[in-house]
Amino acid sequence: MIEKLSVKRSQQKFFLYSGVVLWLVAINVWLFCTYHSRSRSSYGNDTASDHLSIYDEFGLDYKLGSKSQSGSGSGSGSGSESDPNSENKSFKDDITIKILQKHQSKEKDIRGVDAHASIYDKIFANHDIDSIFGNLNFEQRCDLFFQNLFMHDNNWILKVNERNRLENKNEFKFNDFKRVHLEEYKKEFASANHKNHEDVENTPEFEQFVRTKYDEFWKKTMKYEQKIVDQISIMRVFNKCYITSDNTTQVKRTNEFVNDQHKLMTSLHWASSKKSKVPSFKFTKEENRIHFKSIKHSALEHRVYPWLSFEYPIYERFTSKVSYHPPIMSKYLPDQEEQRTTKPTKHSNELGFFLNKFKNQCNGRGIVLTIGDSHVEDTVKLIHLLRALNNKLPIQIVYYQDISKETKTKIVTAARESIGAFPKSFEKVKEYFPDDYLSNDGGLPKQEVWFVNTYNVIHEDFKDRFKGYANKFLATFFNSFDEFMLIDADTVMMQNPDHFFNLPGYKENGAFFYKDRTTFETRPKSDIVFFKKLGPSIVDSVMFDIPIMTKHTVENDFMRGLYHYQESGLVMLNRKIHFNAILLMFQLNFNEPVNGRIHGDKEIFWLALAINGNENYAFNENYAAAIGKVTPQTERTKPDGTPHQSVELCSPHPGHISDQDNALEWINSGFFYCSKSPIVDFKKEAEQKARLKSLKSAEDFKAFYYSPLRISSAVIPPLDLNVWAVNVEDEPSRGWFMDSRYCKGYMWCAYTSIGGLKSDGESNRKEGRLIHFTEKEEALFAYYGDIWVGLE
Ligand SMILES: *[C@@H]1O[C@H](CO)[C@@H](O)[C@H](O)[C@H]1NC(C)=O
Ligand SMILES: *[C@@H]1O[C@H](CO)[C@@H](O)[C@H](O)[C@H]1NC(C)=O
Ligand SMILES: *[C@@H]1O[C@H](CO)[C@@H](O)[C@H](O)[C@H]1NC(C)=O
Repeated sequence: MIEKLSVKRSQQKFFLYSGVVLWLVAINVWLFCTYHSRSRSSYGNDTASDHLSIYDEFGLDYKLGSKSQSGSGSGSGSGSESDPNSENKSFKDDITIKILQKHQSKEKDIRGVDAHASIYDKIFANHDIDSIFGNLNFEQRCDLFFQNLFMHDNNWILKVNERNRLENKNEFKFNDFKRVHLEEYKKEFASANHKNHEDVENTPEFEQFVRTKYDEFWKKTMKYEQKIVDQISIMRVFNKCYITSDNTTQVKRTNEFVNDQHKLMTSLHWASSKKSKVPSFKFTKEENRIHFKSIKHSALEHRVYPWLSFEYPIYERFTSKVSYHPPIMSKYLPDQEEQRTTKPTKHSNELGFFLNKFKNQCNGRGIVLTIGDSHVEDTVKLIHLLRALNNKLPIQIVYYQDISKETKTKIVTAARESIGAFPKSFEKVKEYFPDDYLSNDGGLPKQEVWFVNTYNVIHEDFKDRFKGYANKFLATFFNSFDEFMLIDADTVMMQNPDHFFNLPGYKENGAFFYKDRTTFETRPKSDIVFFKKLGPSIVDSVMFDIPIMTKHTVENDFMRGLYHYQESGLVMLNRKIHFNAILLMFQLNFNEPVNGRIHGDKEIFWLALAINGNENYAFNENYAAAIGKVTPQTERTKPDGTPHQSVELCSPHPGHISDQDNALEWINSGFFYCSKSPIVDFKKEAEQKARLKSLKSAEDFKAFYYSPLRISSAVIPPLDLNVWAVNVEDEPSRGWFMDSRYCKGYMWCAYTSIGGLKSDGESNRKEGRLIHFTEKEEALFAYYGDIWVGLE
């Protein structure tokens, strides 16, 4: 048996080796010409010009556009640096790196841009590239990276409070830039040159003036973009090198990765014409002067996370019992199933980093929300709903600026008091709940509520950065769970929370997100280039096994230009898998050029994962729907009195429909028909008489807006990115329409189809979806609505 096995093994080995040899022979000829003819020392000679060459790859994109449009390319004042042929090659063109990248990833690089941390230029300027990839193991590469940071600047630190202003967000192209600034520059130019400002426009001097302005803007922008690339890269490498380096899966992978590279480098050199050996790695004199091992670990962590205080938050149970480190949840939920209660991880070789220790203390599953005092009413209603949903998971309410004693009391009462009085709608749905739905005292299940005070986790100098709004990222990171569902106080679930933890997309990836309404806003190409630049570079991927973005990210609808992509009212995350990406969320959010391009925290979740180099995330396939009741076709006939082909549903609530079974999973904006009721002018809205035609008076409107939303249908319009389906059939040309006259501008109408016959007789119709819920579903929604609103 053993013999047989070893024969089989040696056969396998034989085939493996012959494969490798064949491949090596194939590339040998090619290598012969190129590999040893290059001048090794010229890489990264002039690091400053290296940077320019990287920018130009996409700078060209914008400038090319402006040149071809303006017609006169010769007059371009954008400088000679935009001609790629005059550039010296950067180390990225090194054949070793290209081979390693090809070897590592079978997928084609489709990003069109690659930006790396500038420290790499310095590292590769001093070392033979092959000596790094042929000799160093993972830890040595990490140390080399950070050693160089200290070597070039002993005071390096990730500057969180430095402000980079995002300017001309929509005018990265010269012509757009010129159009927007034309009047302002005409005045400036005219007054400087004592001319009439009407006369300057088409003169070469003025054109040159605008070019100069544009170049200034461009240089400034590229400079801060590189700064952000540097910060993000340093954090990404640091986290992988030191924070998750105790993860045995990661260690095994990186070991294989490095060994594989060593073998490949040896083979390459062996196969080359000179049959040379891989050059050995030598530290430079300067590097030798830095005693990296004597730099305290905590110092490194402080440089990357200057805004952390390195204290744990304070966890307070509903009983007022306080814990100064992450509590072990299984102690409080003795009858939890095993899968819900992962234990804290024990590690023999503690790394001495705060973040690593915190990671290993997190445990269990739970629900997380972040609130301020103003959210207390919604939170109380949400907790009532969770009781009705038969939730058994612990809930952590995270806050930064103190919440009042009163707020806490209200929440604890909502979670613990007995609720035994049911709305009438309960009768219809009773049978759908398990036998133990009602606890011993005959009421809805009580909730395990904790408060998490995160004020102390932020360093004194940075406290202001977290003020003003309930910081979702603090909640994401500092809750104590391994796996959690992050929600807003006005998120309304229609399924038991376990449903979300059991979604296949979540289980496979450890991250599951929902999509927003596909409203008409789009984003400029420069946004997309920027976000791609923040992702891992090719050098990151060959040095540290941090893979570059693939089509999973690069070809999503956001990257195709959609402005609103993620709806972050419900986010599923597994910290064990995405620990480092969650940390990166903070760093992304600190940057104005990042958060100036997205609405609130919405897109940061999936972006952080992709930028961290772990694209294990799934989205629910369906974009958000309008939910409620469809508009009767008789209330919206065409001018000629005939009905529309499209069906309309207007509602102030987006809803999220499962891509598995069309179930309604959750909705936004609470359960009142109109969440803006406290600020609605009911008289004014009643006078519109365009919608909700069964309501006559202001009083009718008020009563209706304050009642729970009744849900029988959902409409998911077709995606209409950059399409106006103009038609002659009076059908809508866009999938969504905001009717500002209702619910204080929060009323959105969705259409099951857009387009129809055009004037040329062709059709541009696109179909969306109409979903009708079952009687059982409707009855459950009615029950949940009554519970949330508080109807007895
Ligand atoms: C780098 O290149 C410049 C020419 O662009 C040359 O003057 C300089 O000596 C080179 N430096 C090194 C270290 O090779
Ligand atoms: C490119 O490098 C060569 C020497 O290797 C140097 O002579 C030349 O000036 C460099 N070109 C640029 C644009 O830096
Ligand atoms: C280690 O990392 C892998 C991959 O990201 C993850 O699945 C696993 O849960 C991690 N293990 C621990 C103990 O954190």
